[in-house]
Amino acid sequence: MTSAMSPSRIIDTGLSFWGSKVLLTAVEFELFTKLVDKPMTGESLGKILDLHPRGIWDFFDTLVALGFLNRDGTGPTAFYSNTEETSMFLDKNKLSYVGGILEMANDRIYKFWDDLGPALKTGKPQNEIKHSQKPMFEVLYEDLPRLEQFLGAMRGLSIGNFQAFVQKFDFSNYKSLCDVGGATGLLSSLVAKQHSYIKCTSFDLPIVAPIAKKWIEKENLSDRINVVSGDFLRDALPKSDIITMGNILHDWNLEKKKHLIRLAYEALPENGAFVVIENIIDDDRRKNTFGLLMSLHMLIEFGDAFDFTGADFWGWCQEAGFKRYEVVHLVGPCSAAIAYK
Ligand SMILES: C[S@@+](CC[C@H](N)C(=O)[O-])C[C@H]1O[C@@H](n2cnc3c(N)ncnc32)[C@H](O)[C@@H]1O
Repeated sequence: MTSAMSPSRIIDTGLSFWGSKVLLTAVEFELFTKLVDKPMTGESLGKILDLHPRGIWDFFDTLVALGFLNRDGTGPTAFYSNTEETSMFLDKNKLSYVGGILEMANDRIYKFWDDLGPALKTGKPQNEIKHSQKPMFEVLYEDLPRLEQFLGAMRGLSIGNFQAFVQKFDFSNYKSLCDVGGATGLLSSLVAKQHSYIKCTSFDLPIVAPIAKKWIEKENLSDRINVVSGDFLRDALPKSDIITMGNILHDWNLEKKKHLIRLAYEALPENGAFVVIENIIDDDRRKNTFGLLMSLHMLIEFGDAFDFTGADFWGWCQEAGFKRYEVVHLVGPCSAAIAYK
């Protein structure tokens, strides 16, 4: 071993689930929500969370070391408080809360990833559908709290990317947008608030409609956004100048991806824009680690579903008849791949 070499990156990555589980557990305990009003000593915070004394100092100080808590002082008299970031994004009472994805990670995803090995050996999903023959969304949506949890999780994962898209995309040539697989109507809400002349439709399965309406009402946008129910495996899409799909194509195998792209083509007018917002993998498949991990996650959740590069997407879109294409980087690993009819 040369003196410049160190195994620490290998060890850090191998054990990174420790840090991950500390943050997920803090979210599960609603630690950041409970700390919002005022700083607390470790003892008080431990009592509020009903923790055994053995773990409290290690738990809270690990969160300090990870940068998710501030600590003023040392020892038992020290006060713990949220950082600016945890106060903004992990306080359940704020609309900016992104913890939904972490709640779902803690409840579902964490244990399913334990079976990455079997997934890689068999090519089969390792989640709730492992022992049933039903399609993933049917199983996920059988249970209302799980459906609400999934839709809340999607908001946390998508809000930053959707906000960036709404700011970066030039809407001036268009009058209407349909967000396919629109879930709680988040993308439509952000577009409607920023671009008042765009008529927005959020399209999703019938079971999702009451939840979408509830969220849209909370934002006072019920008169601006049309909630349409349908099944994109069976129905045509509402005609629109822009068709968006956020984290939709990666949920499906190649045949269904191509079906969805054809549906988008049919629903658009000449020069209409088909926008896919996902963790688009770099064409050389070397850099976008999160996009590649997301594709492994699609293996765990669906089996034959997968994430893709911009070049893959453009190849499928050309088959469908699209004329032009670009990739617009949004936030972190996420981009908008846009094909024009
Ligand atoms: C991964 S979520 C993406 C949600 C949202 N677009 C986002 O990026 O945050 C997939 C969405 O597709 C919807 N969906 C699944 N199957 C569908 C189908 N056959 N027809 C219409 N929507 C469907 C789900 O209900 C869910 O809201």
